[in-house]
Amino acid sequence: MRHQAEAEVRGSAASGTRPPRTSAACVLLAVLAVGATSLAGQIPERPTNLRVLPTDLSRDSLVEIMRGFSFALGVRCQYCHTGGDGISFEGVDFADDSDPDKIKARAMLRMVGNLNDVVLAALPERDDPPVSVWCKTCHRGRPRPISLADALLSTLDELGPDSTVALYNRLRDDERVVLAGSFDFGEWETNVLGERLRRASRLTDAIAIYTLNGSRYPESIGIELALGALYEQTGDPESAISHYERVLELNPDNARARDRLAELRGG
Ligand code: HEC
Ligand code: HEC
Repeated sequence: MRHQAEAEVRGSAASGTRPPRTSAACVLLAVLAVGATSLAGQIPERPTNLRVLPTDLSRDSLVEIMRGFSFALGVRCQYCHTGGDGISFEGVDFADDSDPDKIKARAMLRMVGNLNDVVLAALPERDDPPVSVWCKTCHRGRPRPISLADALLSTLDELGPDSTVALYNRLRDDERVVLAGSFDFGEWETNVLGERLRRASRLTDAIAIYTLNGSRYPESIGIELALGALYEQTGDPESAISHYERVLELNPDNARARDRLAELRGG
């Protein structure tokens, strides 16, 4: 089950060296949620193919960790586990390693163990209790932890402005995405993308991105000024004028908008 926003190129599975088995295990045991789950009854009593997690984990603990994976990435168990109909656990082969996402998740487990037990453990004057890295730290409800700007940019490159606007609006209006904090919908994140496009002389795309952001931040002077300047650059003074006028509605003292309007009207 792929998340719709994850259209970009997928990287290859990490395959770094293996830290000691205990390192990831310590981390995991520390973040175990309490309590058994009804899922536990539907999966095999004993795991046969744990390579990072400790092999003596109880089934309940293992299932809690796995649920943590699912929630952190916003995916079903079957995102990483093969077999069955994709919905029920009937026929799912949890020990099988043929899904690349399972291999990646294993690499992630090792990475998280290494970050917590080696890299962060060596910090001077560390907080007590220490703050640990966990799947959710990066993933926040999506399988590929990319920024909103990067998600928009790859959609822009592949499918153009209309699809990009549609993607933004779909994500922004999806309560699940917003509540999980999956993306930064602040004004700045998207403006920075607009600015990046302007610098790359992709003026039409920059206008599309600023216009989109302006629809969400209609009181933003920064967006209106950027649009004014972009329309000047594309040789559309009338549109530029309307954006500078909007700036003066928001702030009658804005010197830049006054200057540009004087020049555009004077000329
Ligand atoms: C993001 C990927 C991912 C998701 C989602 C996921 N798992 Fe796993 N699962 C793994 C990995 C990786 C391992 C092997 C860990 C290891 O090698 O130490 C594993 C191992 C297991 C095992 C042990 C299999 C064996 O015999 O060795 C069970 C059982 C299991 N998962 C159940 C679940 C259940 C139930 C869910 C949903 C609640 C789930 N998993 C969701 C990645 C995932
Ligand atoms: C430090 C940030 C970070 C943490 C923590 C992290 N991940 Fe990841 N994860 C990434 C990045 C970045 C990618 C994308 C790698 C790529 O393909 O280029 C990724 C990709 C993945 C993928 C592949 C998804 C796909 O559809 O391509 C899986 C599965 C995954 N992570 C599972 C996990 C699990 C499980 C944990 C916790 C044990 C975890 N990650 C912790 C950063 C992180």
